[in-house]
Amino acid sequence: MNNYKIHAFDHCELYVGNAKQAAHYYQYALGFTPISYSGLETGSRKKVSYVMQQGKVRFVLSSPLIPGTEIGKHLDQHGDGVKDISFTVDSAEEAWKETTANGAISISKPKLIEDKNGRAVIATIKTYGDTTHTFIERNNYKGSFLPGFKKLKKSKLDQSVGIIHIDHIVGNQPDGNMKSVCEFYEKIFGWHRFWSVDDKDISTKYSSLKSIVMANDNEIIKMPINEPASGLKKSQIQEYIDFYKGPGVQHIALSTKDIISTVKKLKLNGVEFLPTPKSYYKDLINRVGEIKEDLKEIAEMGILIDSDEKGYMLQIFTKPIQDRPTLFFEIIQRKGSNSFGKGNFKALFESIEREQNQRGNL
Ligand code: FE2
Repeated sequence: MNNYKIHAFDHCELYVGNAKQAAHYYQYALGFTPISYSGLETGSRKKVSYVMQQGKVRFVLSSPLIPGTEIGKHLDQHGDGVKDISFTVDSAEEAWKETTANGAISISKPKLIEDKNGRAVIATIKTYGDTTHTFIERNNYKGSFLPGFKKLKKSKLDQSVGIIHIDHIVGNQPDGNMKSVCEFYEKIFGWHRFWSVDDKDISTKYSSLKSIVMANDNEIIKMPINEPASGLKKSQIQEYIDFYKGPGVQHIALSTKDIISTVKKLKLNGVEFLPTPKSYYKDLINRVGEIKEDLKEIAEMGILIDSDEKGYMLQIFTKPIQDRPTLFFEIIQRKGSNSFGKGNFKALFESIEREQNQRGNL
């Protein structure tokens, strides 16, 4: 038992080269609404941030306003990507105290921040690579995001594509580092192993990966940790490590209650997904059992399906959302199943490998 409680993923902060233009993509392609802002107009002279929200998912897109900043160095090294995964907690002070007592490296001590809308407490620790976890305690805050941010006027147009919350966030590790990162989550947070796959389960002719899903005690937070496994050619995890220059967030899975409608809207908005070969759908029903959705529509969309004893799940993956082949999104709809798509890895990998080959990285 911890002395603090993690309620949910609070938000992810992404460092991006041009936050204003990224915000446009998150709004008009991915269906997020800009809700809050900090920048020159709010007195933030070095850093600009746009807070984008859809359902309970919040992304903070941040860019530097001047040269020589920590964000600038991060961008030069890693390109656009996730800097921080934050958790809403009942006590940021307790969360920081306990995790640092357990051996976590502190990035910033608990700090009280306030404005006319109330007060919040935040504290940050380091996790894999240059990625961090921030604890956010905002019980006494009534503003749109956090103190220092100004609320943006809500546009009348609702662009939501139906995303409701974050299902899981995956971290890629260099070869041989998966276990130590999982041990970090066990030791620092007291989390447990929820699910795992190894290279025997999911190798294609060319490449494979190992993955262990770490979860907190109420299993609201799920964070799969991947590492490459050797194959004939380069693993997609290794391609990520090569271009991100180290460990980092590989993908964020966003859940929806109607994946067909969500993916249709995203495709109309120009979001690109990994294609699924037609052969995947041939014996699908034999593999996963009866599904409620129209199989023809599922196949047209390229949606993947996997099942376990509890039910089934539908998922699809976008192509990388920046020029480096690093971060991408997953859209997921769970119908009882807690699966992480073991049955789909092979089809998915073969699709990724075709893309890798086109980039000259296979
Ligand atoms: Fe995933």
